[in-house]
Amino acid sequence: MEQVDDIVLQAREELASCENTQRLEEIRVHYLGRRGRITELLKTLGSIEPDQRREFGQAVNAAKKELSEQITVARARLEAQLLEQQLAEEQVDVTLPGRGGQRGGLHPVTLAMQRIIDLFGHLGFDVATGPEVEDDYYNFESLNFPAHHPARAMHDTFYFGDGRLLRTHTSPVQIREMQKRGAPIRIIAPGKVYRSDYDQTHTPMFHQVEGLLIGEKVSMADLKGILREFVNAYFESEMGMRFRPSYFPFTEPSAEVDIAWDRGDGSEPGWLEILGCGMVHPNVLKACDVDSERYIGYAFGMGVERLAMLRYGVTDLRQFFENDLQFLRQFR
Ligand code: DAH
Repeated sequence: MEQVDDIVLQAREELASCENTQRLEEIRVHYLGRRGRITELLKTLGSIEPDQRREFGQAVNAAKKELSEQITVARARLEAQLLEQQLAEEQVDVTLPGRGGQRGGLHPVTLAMQRIIDLFGHLGFDVATGPEVEDDYYNFESLNFPAHHPARAMHDTFYFGDGRLLRTHTSPVQIREMQKRGAPIRIIAPGKVYRSDYDQTHTPMFHQVEGLLIGEKVSMADLKGILREFVNAYFESEMGMRFRPSYFPFTEPSAEVDIAWDRGDGSEPGWLEILGCGMVHPNVLKACDVDSERYIGYAFGMGVERLAMLRYGVTDLRQFFENDLQFLRQFR
């Protein structure tokens, strides 16, 4: 019995002077652990004379109860201390100057695209979008490229195993929208397109904005007028422009539009191609169940990277795709 009292006294002293939770755990194991001093005493119960066993057992159990209560109290005390200490150390000084917010910016291609969308918005064009994974019908067939048509070869198409493909232009959105909404219609379709091509002036993914206007009395003169309006507004200056006869399966007649461009390096201004356009081919209208006797219209498609380069004075297309912050920060 004296031994029990000694152990309890000693444990109380150790607990009173215990200063951290690690030491507290050592104390707990030392007294109450599987081979702790109290536990060992309980194990001797069987060897005690039967008439003293009851009293001894009660004393040991009382000691055990007291110690585990005291350990709980000590733990609460130490944890509260720790919290106090942390709160004191981690005080926030609200009078310190702030670090300053880093402001991001839009990518120049996004800026150019938004500018194009905005300008055509003023001219009454709605924005339409379509899937980047297309099939042969929407990317070619419905746009009047029959199977084996040589113009398909110009598109360097990425194909999936199942015959689907990554759209090579935004023209399929013309078909999807006309099938959905019929005529008359006035839309632009901005988006990503893909071609298996990579060099100084080509990247496998680039952006186009498609335009489509179908009505009852639409002429090539309307097309030329609206493109002139757009180009002058986009560059904020009166631009030299020429319409050069060209060929696309989905328009007839077709043209490519060049702008006069002064590189500013003393060399003669030259012509730079910026878009393709034409009067929508009757076969395209027929594929969309639009009455080609009653309706007529024009379409155009422009490359956004080229327009972004010209507007922002970027000379290497690849800079758009290198994620170089020094380059991108200039457009913030
Ligand atoms: N889809 C053509 C291309 O990617 C561009 C184009 C030309 C679109 C004439 C048109 C158009 O809508 O009428 O090369």
